[in-house]
Amino acid sequence: LIQPVVLSGGSGTRLWPLSREKYPKQLLALMGDDSLLQATLRRVEGTPGADIAPPLVVCNEEYRFVVAEQLRVIGTQGRIVLEPVGRNTAPALTLAALAAQSGGADPVLLVMPSDHVVAQPAVFQEGVRHAARLAQDGAIVTFGITPDRPETGYGYIQAGASVGEGGARTITRFVEKPDLATAEGYLQAGDYLWNSGLFVLRASVWLQALERCRPDILAACQASWKDGVSDLSFLRVEAEAFAACPSDSIDYAVMERLGGAQSLLDLPSGVVVPLSAGWSDVGAWDALWQILPKDAQGNVAQGRTLMQDSRNTLALSSGRLLACVGVQGLVVVETPDAVLVADQRHTQDVKKIVDRLKRDG
Ligand code: GDD
Ligand code: MG
Repeated sequence: LIQPVVLSGGSGTRLWPLSREKYPKQLLALMGDDSLLQATLRRVEGTPGADIAPPLVVCNEEYRFVVAEQLRVIGTQGRIVLEPVGRNTAPALTLAALAAQSGGADPVLLVMPSDHVVAQPAVFQEGVRHAARLAQDGAIVTFGITPDRPETGYGYIQAGASVGEGGARTITRFVEKPDLATAEGYLQAGDYLWNSGLFVLRASVWLQALERCRPDILAACQASWKDGVSDLSFLRVEAEAFAACPSDSIDYAVMERLGGAQSLLDLPSGVVVPLSAGWSDVGAWDALWQILPKDAQGNVAQGRTLMQDSRNTLALSSGRLLACVGVQGLVVVETPDAVLVADQRHTQDVKKIVDRLKRDG
């Protein structure tokens, strides 16, 4: 049995002004009719040759109704684990593991971020089958992407010896978000893959690994866990106990300790399965321009837009007429109360605007 776990807690600040605190990017329909969350859920449904359980979605309490409604619309009957506050992905996965184990089961968890696009779901599903087999035997499995640039926002995995089907290799090293010079070195070295942020592992394996690496996080999550307390499909935790949980990501808390130092901590083995399924992290506007279908001039224009002598520009209008004349390489996003005009090479810095807005009100 494979238990999908969807982590849906990010705020997606680099996609401002479309992505807002009240309505973060994973809930937006950035491509087609489905939101990124809905597309994530659909991606695993009906994986051939696999028994897929109804999903567990972990999100902030604030989004419970939107998330429940988005599940309903696509006919998915899942459970929704509610976090009173965000404590990053390690605690979020821990709550999901505790929920998955209730009733005495120990399923293989397929942990998925909710902010990714996968162009070839069938290839992804094949990878899931390979990964699940390895995870069944106790490994911590991730999917690795062949890097094409020294991106510093990702984790890097050094792949070692072959271990079984699907090109699976051992993880000899995991480095989360290296600096640019280090990332360039990894790219040159040739044996590094990007961490896709997708993990496959048994619930008990995660809890054991966390106990070795961050017993404080495990203890706080367990203290907050109220087995079986739910109304409708919502699972709630003790707010005060969960607020006391340290904040950390799966990558820093556990993944970085796999590889070299693993034997000291007696951790499960780490395995990376290469994935060539058209994976993309929709982190910032330039990534969205890259994956959306473009016209002959390289423009992506959605909503009421008029493009005149413009090239390689992403123009999104949510209402007002948006006209671009003689520009190139821009991102222009119109919403009722804010308009973004950015150079595509600087879209990572949109986050700085959001930080300023938060600071200055
Ligand atoms: N429920 C919940 N609670 N979900 C969360 C929380 C939280 O507190 N924080 C983040 N998430 C969700 C986000 O919505 C996203 O879907 C996923 O967990 C990953 O979090 P990000 O904050 O987007 O991580 P990242 O992009 O910086 O890095 C991760 O993904 C990269 C690939 O996209 C790491 O795993 C990297 O190693 C990896 O390369
Ligand atoms: Mg991300």
